Amino acid sequence: MENQIEEIKKKIDIIEFIGSFITLKKVGRNFKANCPFHQEKTPSFVVSPERQIWHCFGSCGDGGDIVKFLMKWENIAFIEALKELAQKAGVSLKNINYEDRIWKKKERYFMMNAQATDFFEYVLSKTKFGKKGLEYLTGRDIKAPVIIKFQLGYSPSSWDSLRLFLKKKNYSDEEISENGLLVKNDRGRYYDRFRGRLMFPLKDARGNVVGFSGRILEPDAKEAKYVNTPETPIYHKRETLFGINLARESIKTEKNVFIVEGEFDMITPYSKGFSNFVAIKGAAITTEQLMLLKRYTDKITLALDADEAGEEAMKRGIVEAEKMDFDIQVIKIDFAKDPDEAIRKDLNAFKKAVKKPVPVYDFIIDSAVKKYPEDTPFNKKKIGDEVIPYIERIVNPIVKSHYVKKIAHLLNVEEEGVTNLISKIKRKIEQKASYKLNISPKTKEERHLIIEKYLLSLVFQSDDIDKMSTLIFSVIGPKDFSLPVYQKICKNFIDKKEKEKIFDVNYFVKYLPAEIRPAFDEIYLFDSSDHNLSKENIEKLMFELKRFSLKNQIKKTLEEKAESQEKNKQLITITNSLKEVEKKLLSL
Ligand code: CTP
Ligand code: MN
Repeated sequence: MENQIEEIKKKIDIIEFIGSFITLKKVGRNFKANCPFHQEKTPSFVVSPERQIWHCFGSCGDGGDIVKFLMKWENIAFIEALKELAQKAGVSLKNINYEDRIWKKKERYFMMNAQATDFFEYVLSKTKFGKKGLEYLTGRDIKAPVIIKFQLGYSPSSWDSLRLFLKKKNYSDEEISENGLLVKNDRGRYYDRFRGRLMFPLKDARGNVVGFSGRILEPDAKEAKYVNTPETPIYHKRETLFGINLARESIKTEKNVFIVEGEFDMITPYSKGFSNFVAIKGAAITTEQLMLLKRYTDKITLALDADEAGEEAMKRGIVEAEKMDFDIQVIKIDFAKDPDEAIRKDLNAFKKAVKKPVPVYDFIIDSAVKKYPEDTPFNKKKIGDEVIPYIERIVNPIVKSHYVKKIAHLLNVEEEGVTNLISKIKRKIEQKASYKLNISPKTKEERHLIIEKYLLSLVFQSDDIDKMSTLIFSVIGPKDFSLPVYQKICKNFIDKKEKEKIFDVNYFVKYLPAEIRPAFDEIYLFDSSDHNLSKENIEKLMFELKRFSLKNQIKKTLEEKAESQEKNKQLITITNSLKEVEKKLLSL
């Protein structure tokens, strides 16, 4: 296999290849770009034409050859990337005996979903059971070519028709169930998850069916309107964007993507020629979805539902997207509840709205004014409180001053009043950011080492070791410390505490392995006037260290060579904890 990989690499030039995904700029002997695998503003992603390798010198620190690049870009397994490159290079991959259990399982589940898609499609268009579904689609003005394009289908009202169909294709109940198509009841019996529903296959950017969404047809049904595939080895709600497989090329050429809420709100615009729409499910835009879009465009246009949930979603989305440096616009549809309804009501009005997106800040100001309509001092304050945090974040001074004027005019106050409010909020945010240490560190690296020392000395120098250690070690564990001696001190303390109720320093020191004692003494004697910290400040330090440690764990996990489901799961868990910690830090 090595020879074949070498042959592929000879035939595909890395600069040309990576250059077809991102814009590379020649700098000296190498080429540079902003790293596509993490957020950054200055380019630290370097490709070497001579060595035919790439490396990111920024926070992801990853690197490799074209195979590795494609694996990361498409989020696929080694063998999948290799196959794709072999095809491109015209190299035949004979006799490869590459064992990748996880990839094989994924491949098998994609296949199962493709077969289930065929089944649902067949039921919809070729059987009497699907008649209801076809009538429903006609009622929503969805025509045959669109049905075919999206591979829409119908799941019959039966407990086991799909199950029996897939069993004939040699899938076990356990497999079908793990892939989300069956549900297991209390008595251990399996039955079809999707029954009597219009079926939408959910696809990834490459067109693989990763899961399904099923809509009930009866308007007054007691069951949920939509039933979806749960998290499975191949379906991850946070990463899925309905329609991305059809829209991605157009998103690239238009340099813009419209984000809507719901399958029909993507399908109906698509059927009318709007080709750069994708749908999120429910109300939240996730970082994973934004990362995926960032590969194709720097601009997003939100076209979410005109209800309160949609508006809240928009605001949360804005904060996330702003962090990732997207240019964000909003289209306002006030004559219908969502894009699908808008198009069916008044296509021209919808076209106009699409052509005239509003900058996100106008949208935020308008929605605050709508929320507090009466002209009272109290309402003015509310409007100010609501919009100013967003205006405060605007980087461009001209844009910022435009909105300061707009708000001042709107609230009928002096501009200076608005500017003062902005500075006040800014100070508040800065104060919250981090606790100022008494010993000022020279580098970021040093700061977290000092925090480690602070926290340990807070525990051991405390008048109430029990209380202090409970507080600190509820968040911080041995592996959050970077120095092995600190890890050991922490671990020893926790072990000891579990066994004994009363803590005696002298006894503890004797209990410690001799080589750790000097470090312990240093902590025990560490002199700082910060020892009367408030609980809030202690928490700031704790969570700052936790954030640092989680970020490090992410980096280390990414550096591991093996690609596995386990690793991905681990990454998701760590990333979720990191989000929690960041939320906590902001709330302190
Ligand atoms: N959704 C869901 N589960 C539900 C309700 C909604 O997963 N019980 C998701 C679906 O993807 C849906 C989207 O959230 O398309 C938006 O929900 P909603 O606005 O209620 O539906 P619409 O998109 O307007 O669907 P329809 O036009 O068919 O009523
Ligand atoms: Mn709708």
